[in-house]
Amino acid sequence: MNTLLHINTSLFASEGQSSALAARYVERWRRNHPEGRVIERNLSEQPVAHLDAERFGAFLADEAKLTPLQRQALDESNTFIDELRAADTVVIGLPMYNFGIPSMFKAWIDHVARPGVTFRYTENGPVGLLADRKVMVFAARGGVYQGTPMDTQTDYVTHVLNFIGLHDIEFVYAEGLALGDDRQRQALAKAHSTIDALAA
Ligand SMILES: Cc1cc2nc3c(=O)[nH]c(=O)nc-3n(C[C@H](O)[C@H](O)[C@H](O)COP(=O)(O)O)c2cc1C
Repeated sequence: MNTLLHINTSLFASEGQSSALAARYVERWRRNHPEGRVIERNLSEQPVAHLDAERFGAFLADEAKLTPLQRQALDESNTFIDELRAADTVVIGLPMYNFGIPSMFKAWIDHVARPGVTFRYTENGPVGLLADRKVMVFAARGGVYQGTPMDTQTDYVTHVLNFIGLHDIEFVYAEGLALGDDRQRQALAKAHSTIDALAA
């Protein structure tokens, strides 16, 4: 069965502009895959705690010796990784906040990048342990940064997904959303037509 993992990282949950772009793709995917399954992971409705030493310890410790908080951290991490493993397609709604990715998305990444589970180090460097699958990233931004050093998201997200084994990554951008109604309309229209073409 085709399975799509739909991750929203906007602090506005499904009301976010990045969420709306991701939802547009997911809606079209559902139409094309009536038997398909969609796993919803909405990070502002189901917040992930930031990683601290105790939580990180859960990834290295003997499972029999975990504190209750470590048990919770490990269960959360296992759930996120299982969701990734189950999906043939991963869709991420990605706003830019304060020149970076949303902190809740970083917290999710910190629970997914697990030594010995999603990556390992070898003599030749790190190796991602997840099987590759399609990742679509819908990036919404108030300003315009694509192709400049100010775009801190594209390289980082690509690198961290590559690190865990995901290489087939496509970005769709809606930029300049804070630059007036005309710019916003144009950016959204362009993103919508790209999404519709990708989903066709
Ligand atoms: C807290 C916050 C910080 C933001 N920081 C930036 C920024 O650094 N650069 C930028 O281009 N836009 C910034 N924006 C604008 C958002 O990127 C833009 O509104 C985007 O569409 C938000 O996506 P969302 O509605 O899915 O959350 C910021 C918005 C918020 C709410």
